Amino acid sequence: MTGCETNSSDLLSRCQSVDLTSANTLRLPCQAERYVAPKTLSALQNVVRDAVDKQWHITLLGGGSNVLLPAKLKGIAIRPGMRQWWLEGGGESVVAYVGAGVNWHSLVMTLAARGLWGIENLALIPGDCGAAPVQNIGAYGVELKDVLEGVQIVELASGNVRWLSADACQFGYRDSIFKKALADKVVITQLALRLSKKPLPRLGYGDLAARVTASSSCLAVAQAVCAIRQEKLPDPQVLANAGSFFKNPLVSSDQLSRLLQTYPSMPHFPQVNGQSKLAAGWLIDQCGLKGTRQGAFGVHARQALVLVHFGGGDRRELLQFAEYIAHRVYDQFGVKLEPEPRLIQA
Ligand code: EPU
Repeated sequence: MTGCETNSSDLLSRCQSVDLTSANTLRLPCQAERYVAPKTLSALQNVVRDAVDKQWHITLLGGGSNVLLPAKLKGIAIRPGMRQWWLEGGGESVVAYVGAGVNWHSLVMTLAARGLWGIENLALIPGDCGAAPVQNIGAYGVELKDVLEGVQIVELASGNVRWLSADACQFGYRDSIFKKALADKVVITQLALRLSKKPLPRLGYGDLAARVTASSSCLAVAQAVCAIRQEKLPDPQVLANAGSFFKNPLVSSDQLSRLLQTYPSMPHFPQVNGQSKLAAGWLIDQCGLKGTRQGAFGVHARQALVLVHFGGGDRRELLQFAEYIAHRVYDQFGVKLEPEPRLIQA
């Protein structure tokens, strides 16, 4: 695919019929009619304008760690390849301007090593920076929205560039405007992140507090997060997966009370709107599904929220397996599970 990293849209003709199987961490087989990874903002604008002119269907990709790809992808798949980043400002905080093509985890580790606080709890989340706002990535009590100042976007309809403030992104739990009103309408090209030079450890998450202290360095916190994740989550390089496959479901206070009568030890997390978030992994685990395998897919043996692909399967088979799991959970708890990765249209 490197032949399709481009500064100019003239190369588009060389980027036909590209195998994206290794470009998605679930390794679902996928053949894209066209694929291109522009390295600069102006190259990306040219590609977008060209694709719109030719009426090609546009699919936007990042690191491929949160998508369910179809066997055949029509039109053109575009992965923003801008990898420049820099810091601005002084005083107690700085703003990092980061190209959409920068690898998220390497950014976290580089900033943590410089003692810049804010995203250290989000270490080892796979994918590109440009994809991070789409689902408002989160882990260990921190979400991207906590540090995001704004997002630079290119409008698909016009190829024009503009900035959206964090407020305008309408962030929620694994949610944003990029999944709703702006879905398939814009490309995220750059992030602006506010980072603190003053220590700002967020150690509320039990596992993390057990490994570091309030005086630990930013890098030590990031390394502790990596260690926790490595213990529970399979490395996609070794066993194909897309992280948490289901979102943690939200239930009303009435439904929670009823569930707690039968399952008093059920983990639940109150939300500001009065609802409670349940742990999808716990629900799946209680159904006895941890380690279950059906054909090419399985429930990870150490973390029930992660579905793994042993090889040879496709999206249809994965969705059937996911539906089976969701049914089992619904039958036992009356709670609906929804997939977290995005279903990409063929
Ligand atoms: N649990 C089980 N069995 C399991 C898995 C979990 O009983 O197999 C229980 C745990 O004991 C715990 C509760 O479920 O009481 C929650 O589990 P955990 O703290 O591991 O978090 P999670 O809900 O499974 C979420 C995010 C993760 C993030 C972690 C840590 C979602 C969908 N997932 O997982 O994000 O890393 O919290 O903050 O919100 C990802 O998005 O790919 C991802 C890994």
